[in-house]
Amino acid sequence: MKQVVVTKDLVKKFGELRAVDRLNLQIQKGEIYGFIGPNGSGKTTTIKILSGLLRPTSGESYVLGCRIPDPSIFPRIGYMPQEVALYPDLTVSQTISFFGEIYGLGKKEMEKREEELLAFVDMKAKRKEMVSNLSGGMRHRLSLAVSLIHKPELLFLDEPTVGVDPELRTSFWEYFRDLTEDGVTVLLTTHYMDEASRCDRVGMIREGKLVAVGTPDQLKEKTNTQSLEDAFLHYVRRIG
Ligand SMILES: Nc1ncnc2c1ncn2[C@@H]1O[C@H](COP(=O)(O)OP(=O)(O)OP(=O)(O)O)[C@@H](O)[C@H]1O
Ligand SMILES: [Mg+2]
Repeated sequence: MKQVVVTKDLVKKFGELRAVDRLNLQIQKGEIYGFIGPNGSGKTTTIKILSGLLRPTSGESYVLGCRIPDPSIFPRIGYMPQEVALYPDLTVSQTISFFGEIYGLGKKEMEKREEELLAFVDMKAKRKEMVSNLSGGMRHRLSLAVSLIHKPELLFLDEPTVGVDPELRTSFWEYFRDLTEDGVTVLLTTHYMDEASRCDRVGMIREGKLVAVGTPDQLKEKTNTQSLEDAFLHYVRRIG
């Protein structure tokens, strides 16, 4: 199976703090990989390194076969940050056009993509609304749409469903599954264990270290627990 993300002894220090501590990840093409861990365990830091936004202190990472940092991966990856980063003075439609232009989409393609993405996040009625007037959940939806605009091969989604209502969360998951059927790989973080259960594999991180990895069933089996939540508590409490 082709590995699309590999890290080798990845370390990121902030002063004395080891936010990422000899992390070894392997993520395969076409899987939904859930990156699960307590607040402050290093998930966002890892994703920022993999997206080329942050330099590691030491270690190596490879994304889509390129040793990063490598700007050639930018058009091939989509990144939805945990903190929504949109321009408040643009409308929803202008936001999509703005990011589409950055990725070099032509006018016709952009119009088509805008329709598809607004339908996906159920925001067609908000097209002319200013970003500054959107609710928190709506901004989150738009941020997800933006990360998908250029049809990336690999998606880094940092808590993509926070603040999103249950109905839309379900359709997001259906969409993620459709994407993987087309060979797209999804690395996402979540604090919702029902979502973690829907991932192909889950990596549990604690204090910057990967403490367990496997399918949800494997993790339950290994810990002799009935739910992924109990497996998670087993790993975050007992190891270290
Ligand atoms: N720029 C920074 N400067 C100093 N410390 C930082 C910086 N960014 C992150 N940290 C610290 O690194 C650790 C890991 O943070 P990170 O954001 O990666 O955690 P996380 O697993 O994404 O947490 P959450 O679930 O709350 O989003 C935390 O202790 C955080 O305070
Ligand atoms: Mg985070």
